[in-house]
This record gives sequence, C-alpha cells and structure tokens, in this order.
Amino acid sequence: MSVQFEEGTTLDRFLMDQLRDYPGATGQFVNLMQSIALAGKMISSRVNRVGLAGLLGSTGEVNVQGEFVQKLDRYANETFLRALEHRGHTCMVVSEEEGEVVLTPDKWHSGRYVVTVDPLDGSSNIDVNATIATIFGVYRRKSSEGGPAELADVLRPGRELVAAGYILYGSGTMLVLAIDRGVFGFSLDPTVGEFFLSHPSIVVPARGSIFSVNEGYAAEWGPGITRYVQSLKAPGTKYTARYIGSLAADFHRNLLKGGVFLYPATTTSPRGKLRLLYEANPLAYIIEKAGGAATNGRTPILEIRPGSIHHRVPLVIGGVDEVREATEQMKDDFAF
Ligand code: AHG
Ligand code: MN
Ligand code: MN
Repeated sequence: MSVQFEEGTTLDRFLMDQLRDYPGATGQFVNLMQSIALAGKMISSRVNRVGLAGLLGSTGEVNVQGEFVQKLDRYANETFLRALEHRGHTCMVVSEEEGEVVLTPDKWHSGRYVVTVDPLDGSSNIDVNATIATIFGVYRRKSSEGGPAELADVLRPGRELVAAGYILYGSGTMLVLAIDRGVFGFSLDPTVGEFFLSHPSIVVPARGSIFSVNEGYAAEWGPGITRYVQSLKAPGTKYTARYIGSLAADFHRNLLKGGVFLYPATTTSPRGKLRLLYEANPLAYIIEKAGGAATNGRTPILEIRPGSIHHRVPLVIGGVDEVREATEQMKDDFAF
C-alpha cells in the first residue's frame, strides 16, 4: 500500500497516524517505540563520542556467547533494559548480552509486548569507527497479561512478530521499522533530537548486484554455497563484493540497493553463527515486508521454531531471486 506522508513527519506523528487504523490499540506500542527511539538516541550520542567517553575496548568480561563484552555492548544493553523495563508496555526482554530472559518488574506484568534485542551489533567494529547498530524484534505476549511472561511468549517462530527494526549508528543515525503494512526509515536530526521520516516505503529489488559473505571462511563452506558464490564471481556477472562485518549495516545496504547477504554454516559453526531471536528473525521480518526473502539455506527463517533464546542459524537474506538461487544450491549443505 502506498502511504502518503508529508516531509518532516516525526516518528511520533507516524506512530500516532498508524494508531487510528488499529481500533483496539491502547497506545502501548507507540509508547514502546518511543522507548526504543530514546534508547537509540542515547546510544547514538555515546557512539559519536566513543573515543572521548572512555567507551573503547572491552570490559574484560565474557558473555553467554563466549565473546568478550565491549564497553559499548554493556552500555547499550543497560540502556535498552532501562528503557524497556519501567514503562508498562514490555513484560519480558531477551538480550544477546543476558544469559536468561529478563522479566520486567512485577508491577509491569501487564505489559503486552516481548522484545528481543541485539543491543550492539557489529561490536568488532566499535574501535575502528565503522557502522554498528541495534537490532530488535517485538512480539505480542500469548500469556495472560495478569501474570509474569513465559518462555513460550518468545520461543516461537518469527512469523508471529508484530514489528521489527534496527537503529544504525553510521554516517547518520537511522531507525528502520517494519510493521505489517511495510518498512519505513527515520533519520535522526541530532540538532533537535527527533527521528524524521526519510524513507516512506522501503522495497528491496528482486535482484541486485552486491553479495556479502566473509570469504575468509571459504575453506569451511559446504559444496552448495561454494558453487553459489563461484557463480556470482563468474566472468560476465555484474556482482561486486561488500562486507563490513556488521550484520545490520551489510543488511541495510542490500535492503536499499538490492543484493544478498550470506552467513552459512561452517565447520567451525555447523549451526551458523548468527542468532535467530535478535538477529535473523528481525531482519527476516523486515526483508519479507520489503518484498524479499530469508532462509537458513533450506527453510524460511520465519518458520524456524527456536530451541533456546540464543539459538543460532545459518542466514541467507536479500532479494527473492538471489535467495531462491542460493537456497536451491545450499539445501544439502548442512547436516540437519
Ligand atoms: P555481534 O557484534 O552482535 O556479536 O554481531 C556480530 C555478527 C554480525 O554483526 C556480523 O555479520 C558477524 O558477526 C560478522 O562475523 P564474522 O566476523 O565471523 O564475519
Ligand atoms: Mn549481532
Ligand atoms: Mn551484539
């Protein structure tokens, strides 16, 4: 559907305009998105001063993923938990940086939303000033709003998401939000501290000319993805390679320009590296709302039932043509 918006539409006004189309809406989703936007502005402010705010480098801790926690990872995680826990809209959070689910305080059991979040995606790029991001997904709880949230509220296919998005901390700060009617981009004007609608309706080309994969692992790939990547590099194809090493940044470029991102199973990571709940699912929800596709090399990402909150999957995501062609090649690539 083509939605007409005036120049200068703020995120708040956009959300309030959407509210009119949902008669049963209580305003909790608008409130939730305002909390997410606030957390994004706070992290953006720190990212822009990371070299001066003592936020470079690692805390020395190792998280549940077995990765060294960067100072900005911890700041971003604490900022999102604080923004989500005390506003009455959220009953549970799953964060990459938390070993277990985080239930919001008892008095907020009535919150109707569950949020999955990668507070800071692309941590290896913090110290080298490359684009990093926050990725989030939003479910409506299934359990009754009177009691505490349950694991079943979040161990469910991404098909049940009601919204997803990311906040890119790059040359500018941009919030991309997907809801049932489409994908919208909002750019932060730091001089006024507001997100303004800058991309009224994002649609991904069915086929592009960019592929993103870390070829440093090529020796660990299955035969299918090896064949597929070779086919993109054959003489006469129009593909170019781009890989930043920040999932959301690589994804965003391909979303706007077309192309395919692949993080396949490897002998080191036979189940893939990327996490389903707060990386693959939110981006798969976004890409499908933008007309694209996402699989694990065999099955649509949004149909995968998570086995745990930190479930990892291989990921192939982008234009429908490239994802179909890659998946046709890769379906025999991994054991399960
Ligand atoms: P995170 O920083 O949240 O742990 O995510 C890092 C991920 C993702 O952003 C990126 O696509 C991928 O790691 C890069 O992995 P490689 O360095 O193995 O290519
Ligand atoms: Mn990540
Ligand atoms: Mn992360």
